[in-house]
Amino acid sequence: MTKSAIVFGGSGGLGAGCARALARDWPAVAITYHKGVERAEAVAASLPESSRGYPVQCDVSDVASVRAAIAAVARDCGPIGCAVFSAGCAIEQPYISQIGEEQWREVFETETMGFIRVISVLLPLFREQGGGSIVAVTSMANTRVVVGDTISAAPKAAIESLCRGIAKEEGRFGIRANTVAPGAMNSGLGEQYIAERMTPEFWEGFRKSIPLRRFGLAEDIGEAAAFFASDRAGYLTGQTLIVDGGYTL
Ligand SMILES: NC(=O)c1ccc[n+]([C@@H]2O[C@H](COP(=O)([O-])OP(=O)(O)OC[C@H]3O[C@@H](n4cnc5c(N)ncnc54)[C@H](OP(=O)(O)O)[C@@H]3O)[C@@H](O)[C@H]2O)c1
Repeated sequence: MTKSAIVFGGSGGLGAGCARALARDWPAVAITYHKGVERAEAVAASLPESSRGYPVQCDVSDVASVRAAIAAVARDCGPIGCAVFSAGCAIEQPYISQIGEEQWREVFETETMGFIRVISVLLPLFREQGGGSIVAVTSMANTRVVVGDTISAAPKAAIESLCRGIAKEEGRFGIRANTVAPGAMNSGLGEQYIAERMTPEFWEGFRKSIPLRRFGLAEDIGEAAAFFASDRAGYLTGQTLIVDGGYTL
């Protein structure tokens, strides 16, 4: 029986929301951090008593680090039944014409290649144990283009494609893969953008353009990720749930 969930980027805004939602279903939730050990510890401490929070360092740009984190979680928390990938780069929002090769490399290296490193370790493990669930946090910007956001959206389009490929190739081994695509969030990176960029009038106009008239919260993403990760979504694979208050409609 699988016992633990792992959230890559669990120290981040949306990852923390995923960890808290997963804690309702999973006896242990591992929260990976890259540099934010205090934030990961705070997320672990915020989980209900029924679920063990397990902070663990992981750099997704280094496959040895990914392997070590996964091994530590399996050893200390029990077999891993689900993995949520919510690790991402803090980015500016440049026009495509302004993005240099180095910047493209940095984002693809952390996000797309980071996800590839994670699945390179997890897929053999999931096959061996007879199944597992993968959920990746991507972006609604692959459905409705957001000017300046393609540097964030493009690596996530590749992640979505990988999840669909995993769904088709690995389904016979009991492995599912789905993605959650956040819209405009007032958590994590989005919260910083709202606080630091543009004007309050701009954000008020943006809020009014969202059918549900509010920005999303980490909990909204967490609910969707926890659902996909659970047996309640046992017949769902290769799907994307856009969690955006209706913005892309
Ligand atoms: N929030 C939004 O508005 C929004 C909207 C759409 C899509 N998204 C996407 O959702 C994902 C999560 O966003 P967020 O708002 O939660 O971002 P965030 O708060 O900045 O969190 C990013 C997470 O990624 C981790 N990370 C960064 N580099 C890493 C590396 N090399 N190895 C391992 N982990 C690494 C960070 O770890 P440390 O902090 O511990 O260093 C942190 O846990 C991102 O891909 C983002 O683009 C966010």
